[in-house]
Amino acid sequence: KTYRVAILGATGAVGTELLELLESRNFPLAELKLLASERSAGRSLKFKGENLVVEPVSDRTLENVDLVLASAGGSTSKKWAPVAVAKGAVVIDNSSAFRMNPEVPLVVPEVNPQAAAAHQGIIANPNCTTILMTVAIWPLHQIQPIKRIIAATYQSASGAGAKAMAEVKTQAAAILQGQEPVAEVLPYPLAFNLFPHNTPINDFGYCEEEMKMVNETRKIFDTQEVRISATCVRVPVLRAHSEAINLEFDTPFSPDTAREILSNAPGVKLVEDWRANHFPMPIEATGRDEVLVGRIRQDISHPCGLELWLCGDQIRKGAALNAVQIAELLVAKNLLKPAAAYISQ
Ligand code: A2P
Repeated sequence: KTYRVAILGATGAVGTELLELLESRNFPLAELKLLASERSAGRSLKFKGENLVVEPVSDRTLENVDLVLASAGGSTSKKWAPVAVAKGAVVIDNSSAFRMNPEVPLVVPEVNPQAAAAHQGIIANPNCTTILMTVAIWPLHQIQPIKRIIAATYQSASGAGAKAMAEVKTQAAAILQGQEPVAEVLPYPLAFNLFPHNTPINDFGYCEEEMKMVNETRKIFDTQEVRISATCVRVPVLRAHSEAINLEFDTPFSPDTAREILSNAPGVKLVEDWRANHFPMPIEATGRDEVLVGRIRQDISHPCGLELWLCGDQIRKGAALNAVQIAELLVAKNLLKPAAAYISQ
């Protein structure tokens, strides 16, 4: 069986990766539509050696589609996902628009594939830092429930889109030529700098990105029990995020056991060479499917604490790959059914 797929946001950083993944993973396509804003009208992108024309998203271009992979920002998803669903498509949405909606499954295929079965037309792809963290810590949580997570993130420019990636390069070039860096897409110069994640801050002093890690992890793990605190920081790396994670359990968790579990965990690659001081790095995570995990060690400040470090390609596993894996899961479980079935219920 083959499916008619549309990529909404096809010209963006995640959209172009979606295109690459549908090709390299040989997704069963009957047709592929590339959708973006009016700005991209007339552009074309290569798919399997052919040029596909990018069309503006509209009621018309969302007709006759089985699956929409959306990565065009929250407001675009809010506007067009319900339209696509009403027209019979299933939408896998990369934005934060529907993630915390109780009727929308929030899925990381290595963690909670079963949640996808309850979809009513929309499935949400989690926040990138949350995806990377959950893939790495879920296998440990299966052995001993995690009580508390303290995370610090080092997030690349790609999380802010293709324009932010280009801006960091331009800023770096300007600085190297002795000029002032210009920040238009990002709030401050990122080249040779870093800054706390620039999403709105709540009454407790946490920014939205940090609260996504808290709320989405609990939803994906299907528990409100785990306590989570995060500090999210944007760093001048192009496209892979890094995270320092401290886990607390009820009883001690041996680093060797964690190492053994993670060396066999789906979607995880252990990268640890203690002698060479070689651990996960964003440049080595870039372009890879797995979350690289290493520096697993006992927390010397707490007998039941465990420290680890991870890097993962934000555009790939943090976004496009996770979405395509959800699509593959829907195909394998025969869950890619026209949403009309749900609407008429
Ligand atoms: P466009 O290139 O036409 O602006 P990124 O995350 O890399 O910034 O990419 C965002 C993606 O979302 C792009 O493909 C962009 O298309 C698309 N997009 C942004 N705003 C809209 C909109 N209002 N309608 C449709 N697509 C949009």
